[in-house]
Order: sequence, then structure tokens, then C-alpha cells
Amino acid sequence: MPKRPSQRKSEDSLTIHCNGAPIRGFAGESLAAALFAADQQVVSRSLKYHRPRGLFCMDGHCGGCLMRVDGVPNIRICMEPCREGARLETQNAFPSAERDLLGAVDFVFAKGMNHHTLMTGSKFLNRVTQKIVRHLSGLGNLPDAVATTDLPSQEREVEVLVLGGGGAGLAAATASAKAGATTLLIDEGLLLGGSLRSDPRYADSIQDRVQQAADAGVEILSRSCAIAHIPEEDNTTVVITPERLVRLRATATVHATGSYAQNALFENNDRPGVIAMRAAGRLLLDYGIRPADSLCMVGKSDAAEALAATLREAGCDVMHIDHDSEQLVSARGTKGVRAALIRRDGKTREHACELIVIATTPSPASELARQQAAEVVFDGQAGGFAVRTDERGQCGEGVFACGDVCGYMGPLRAIEHGALVGQAAAAYAREVAR
Ligand code: FES
Repeated sequence: MPKRPSQRKSEDSLTIHCNGAPIRGFAGESLAAALFAADQQVVSRSLKYHRPRGLFCMDGHCGGCLMRVDGVPNIRICMEPCREGARLETQNAFPSAERDLLGAVDFVFAKGMNHHTLMTGSKFLNRVTQKIVRHLSGLGNLPDAVATTDLPSQEREVEVLVLGGGGAGLAAATASAKAGATTLLIDEGLLLGGSLRSDPRYADSIQDRVQQAADAGVEILSRSCAIAHIPEEDNTTVVITPERLVRLRATATVHATGSYAQNALFENNDRPGVIAMRAAGRLLLDYGIRPADSLCMVGKSDAAEALAATLREAGCDVMHIDHDSEQLVSARGTKGVRAALIRRDGKTREHACELIVIATTPSPASELARQQAAEVVFDGQAGGFAVRTDERGQCGEGVFACGDVCGYMGPLRAIEHGALVGQAAAAYAREVAR
């Protein structure tokens, strides 16, 4: 069972509602963290087979935590702060994600369902099936109310724009501002720090890094997301903030978008209770929630070792396998994990645990850089499609990239790389201004 520390201050507590049932949350944590702490692991169902879904990344990137919140569908609850009275509803399920009658599809079509040919032999059955499928398809239902507020928009110019407020982004922005460039940093997380927040070796250093950026004069837009880059409009980057739409023209743009947690390949890897190492780290370090009494961690790295040690200190029974000499074959359990099936030397054994934590190499988050025409190369060791740069971190005219987006490099190297690339971006901006 997930566990909160007993000394948590009760004055910070608040009540949210999930399908009408009250759940205790705390100010400063995400809605996903509150549900997880209440042991509500199934938050949604998959679109086609109605398999149970739960949070995986806690980072806004997997889509496993989409819920209807206050009448608005498809909200990533890992990116939404807890607020008193928030109404959460499960979607894509009848009557609820916990007990979804439509989950029968997964049993009936255990070997897969080709919906293109389903019941097309008879015209009548085809028509009936089409109606039912149309009714069931789509992700969530329309919002309760029509949006009435148009976001105001704003035009801005800046010398160096840094996208991403993790270790590399903070280092790049600080170095750029110190070199004299007007610098704006955009980050979409609930809190700054990116993957450092889930790493026990660096989580304590985030406050200092943010302070250093602020002292150097970096302007920070938090909970803001770059949604498009428009080269034909003067290289405008469109950013959406909680208050407005900002159309930004930057002399130099630094992509420090980091990397995404990736799942491993094994049977039932989509079960609630299979979560990324970063999600486990966030639950423990950001929100003080011990994620389980017992877990199986899959994949070896320095970061995984450090987190496993911290989880053990918190009282969690951790079994750590490398997914190389020992392989995770399957997750046992239907609405959560009850055991991991592990194979070693041709023999298979079952290990009882409540959670499976995936610690594979994260994948570079290179989509936005590609919108700015950055070239990517596939590098399996580095997690996937990594941005290719020159030695200054430049990957296009006025376009730079640093940290894990250039191939997973781990926190320390990403921070060092960020500082170098931030300086180079500021130098480029000064050169253009001359
Ligand atoms: S998007 Fe919320 S857990 Fe992945």
C-alpha cells in the first residue's frame, strides 16, 4: 500500500472527489499523487480493449492518467495541482474505470479485434455495430460548459529562449543570463527541476539552481508549454501559459526538453502499478509518499541504484533486477500488480510485489527541436532519436540543444552541457545584435 508520512501537517490537507467519493489530498501535490496515495490506481481505461490504465510517468507524457476534471475531459492529472473540491471522474468506462463492463472486450477478443471487419458480413449487423462503435469511441465526452474566456495574447522578443526547466535548462539559462543575454526560460512542470526532482542524489540541489537562475536575471514562465514553432512567421515560438498565449521571437532558442521515461517490453506492461522510476522518485521525494510496501525495480543504472537505496531507507522492500541476466516476463494482477514473473537461466519464478518500477534508459524528447528543423539520429544506447549538434550545441541557425534531448547523458553531464550551450547561445545572440 502507498503510505504518507504520519507527521504530514493536517492544515495543508484538502478534499477532492473521485467519482463522488471524497479523497484526501494536500496543497502542493498533484491530483495524481493524491489518488495514488489513496491507493486508487485505476484512473482510466484504454480506448479499444478497455484495459485498466493508471499513471506511469507522473511527468505529463504517457497519457495514462487522463481524467475528466471539473467537467473538462482528458486532463493529465499528474500535471494538475490539488485544489479543494476538485471533481475527478473516470472516462472511457461504464459505470467506472474500476468496474468497467466494457472491459469484457478484452476477454472476448483476447487474441485481438479487427474492428475494420467486425460484423461486416451482414448489412444489418454492420449498421448496428457502426452505431455502437461510434457511441463508444472518442476520448471522453464533451466538456460540461463551452469555454467562455479567450486567452489574451502577447507578442514578445527575447535574446535567448530556453525550453525546459530541468538541470540542463536551468544551467543553460543561468549561463546565458550571466553572459549578458536577456533570457527567458519556459517550463511546463508543476515545479521546476525536471527529472532532478525524482533523483535522490540531486533533488536537494534544485532550490539553489533555481535561485542561481533568478539571481542571474533569468525570467521564468512556469506551468507554460511551447506548443508550436512557426518558421514562416519570423521564427515565432508559440507558448501557452496559464494566463495567456505568448508569441515569442527569440534570437537563439535552446532546446533543453530532456527525456521521457520509457516502458520495458513484457506481458501486461500496461497494468496500473507498472510505473516509471521517475514516477516512483517523484512520489517519494516530491510528495513524501512511499509508493508501496514492496516493489520490483527493473533496469540497472546509477540513478536506479540511488533510488532503490532511498526507497529501502523509507521502509520499502525492493527487489532489483537488471533485465539482462534476469528478465521480467510478465506482470501478474488485473487492476494492479500483485507479482512479477521473472526468468533467470531458463527458470521462471514469481515474486510477490505491489509495484513494478521501470528504470530503462529514457528517450530524448526531441519533437520540438525537430519542428525547428534540428536533425535527429537514432541512438539506441542514448534512448532513441537524439538531436545532433555541433560542439557548441548548435543544431540550426539560432537553434541550440543541450542535455538529454541530445541523447540520454544523466544529470551531471546534462547540467555541464547546459552551461556550455547556454554560453554559446548568448554569444550567438550578441553576435547577431552587432
Ligand atoms: S501523463 Fe500523467 S502519468 Fe503520464
